[in-house]
Amino acid sequence: MSDGSERPPLIELSGIGKTFGGVTALSNVDFVLREGEVHGLVGENGAGKSTLMKIIAGVHTEFEGSYRLDGQPVRLRSTRDALARGIGMVHQELSIVPHLSVAENVFLGNQPVSSLGVVRWRHMAREAEAHLKNLGIEVDPTVEAGSLSLGLQQLIEIGRVLFSGARIIILDEPTSALSPPEVERLFQVIDRLRQGGKSFIFISHFLDDVLAISDTVSIFRNSRHVRTAPAAELDKGQIIELMIGRGHEELEESYLGTLELPPASTAPTLLEVRGLTLKGAFEELDLAVHEGEALGIYGFMGCGQLELVRALVGKLKADRGTLVIGGVERRLANTAAGKRAGVALVPESRRSMLFADSPIYRNISISVLERISRWLVKPVAERQLAREKIEELRIRAGSETVALRTLSGGNQQKVALARWLAYRPNVLVLAEPTRGMDVGAKDDVVKIIRALKEQKMGVIVVSTEPETVLSLADRILVMRRGRFTREFVAEAVGKDQLLAAA
Ligand SMILES: Nc1ncnc2c1ncn2[C@@H]1O[C@H](COP(=O)(O)OP(=O)(O)OP(=O)(O)O)[C@@H](O)[C@H]1O
Ligand SMILES: [Mg+2]
Repeated sequence: MSDGSERPPLIELSGIGKTFGGVTALSNVDFVLREGEVHGLVGENGAGKSTLMKIIAGVHTEFEGSYRLDGQPVRLRSTRDALARGIGMVHQELSIVPHLSVAENVFLGNQPVSSLGVVRWRHMAREAEAHLKNLGIEVDPTVEAGSLSLGLQQLIEIGRVLFSGARIIILDEPTSALSPPEVERLFQVIDRLRQGGKSFIFISHFLDDVLAISDTVSIFRNSRHVRTAPAAELDKGQIIELMIGRGHEELEESYLGTLELPPASTAPTLLEVRGLTLKGAFEELDLAVHEGEALGIYGFMGCGQLELVRALVGKLKADRGTLVIGGVERRLANTAAGKRAGVALVPESRRSMLFADSPIYRNISISVLERISRWLVKPVAERQLAREKIEELRIRAGSETVALRTLSGGNQQKVALARWLAYRPNVLVLAEPTRGMDVGAKDDVVKIIRALKEQKMGVIVVSTEPETVLSLADRILVMRRGRFTREFVAEAVGKDQLLAAA
């Protein structure tokens, strides 16, 4: 957009500082949001982005520095207080209530009530449906929100914040679970609302997305604000350099152009699937993964990929087809059987497998404990193991004893990966392994997977992000509506080809 400095500032933060115990999350940060702008926020994992947003949205009420809203100093007491002043936030961790209906979620906290004090359900469902439709989201308002795809849940949550009357909307990584068409739809909505005078703060590790939708971009690094500039004056390479402090040429993640896939593997097969079918999810799938090979599976959200990975590890039972692991045909009764057969899954929803209130080391050692028996592992060894992984994965944490919940989103992600690296299965299935990670951390994952392959592990990477599959896989299967539509092997492939096949 045009010169943003002409518009009046809505929010002005200056000299913001915030610490948690001994950890500095923000140090002397200045930030200005102007009316009608989309302000992109980028920075490495743990840089302080979410913390700053939580100050703006009234989650953190204790901090150093000054906060002015509409030119006046404010002291927010709560998120409710923030919302009353028109500030709404969609958090990095979804807060949809899964067993409430879509309509109830849209109206969460402010249901329409009749003069008799009765919630007007029908009215609510109709309103919610119309409102979501307005945002381009077609969904039955009476179904349970938890039954919908993660992408839809995310859009519904965004719908709720918009519906609550917010004029300043903070989106903390809203696109991480969205497929390209869903991102497109979200951007159209943002664009329309921006023209109507609403203001947005948009946090994302997808730098292309940030550059595409933002008027202004602010870059954070290591608790500090390093630069704010109009999006038109920045490019991706500059942003990466500012946010991680090394040149983007050093990164191995192939975020540019096409990739030359290596020749097909001739190593022994670790896992093979033939004719695998699960009604309503996937049909007649054949795949094999070899020693030291990373197989990528790319497809849009809801193409059946998440059911497939669950079937591979025994979490879901297929209706038909064979599963051969280590040369032996298996019927996995559950994930414990899967683990015994040497197959492990890091699921896409880390929240389901991590213990938020437990220390990091517990979250890492749990997989090993189950194998060895908890009494044989000394607490000292347990913590030593965790310290090694923290260093190996460059997890940003005060120590291995802090509660998982206190880590930034991307760093929690790394803990989930660390758990299985400590366990070392023969085949590691990773669903969305780099979701929420910054470019530097993604590069770390590329290196880790390479090391695992050198140790002859087979890796299956499933993702809705073309970049993730391209940077991690040796061979790529594209999945659409429960079927494989294309295999890329020993050839050049880029984002466009993947999108076209999906
Ligand atoms: N409630 C908390 N208690 C303790 N430490 C915290 C808490 N919230 C954040 N931190 C710490 O503050 C720092 C900044 O975290 P923040 O969540 O703001 O990072 P971020 O930039 O949003 O990262 P990401 O891209 O990974 O989401 C991190 O070191 C984090 O561990
Ligand atoms: Mg964050």
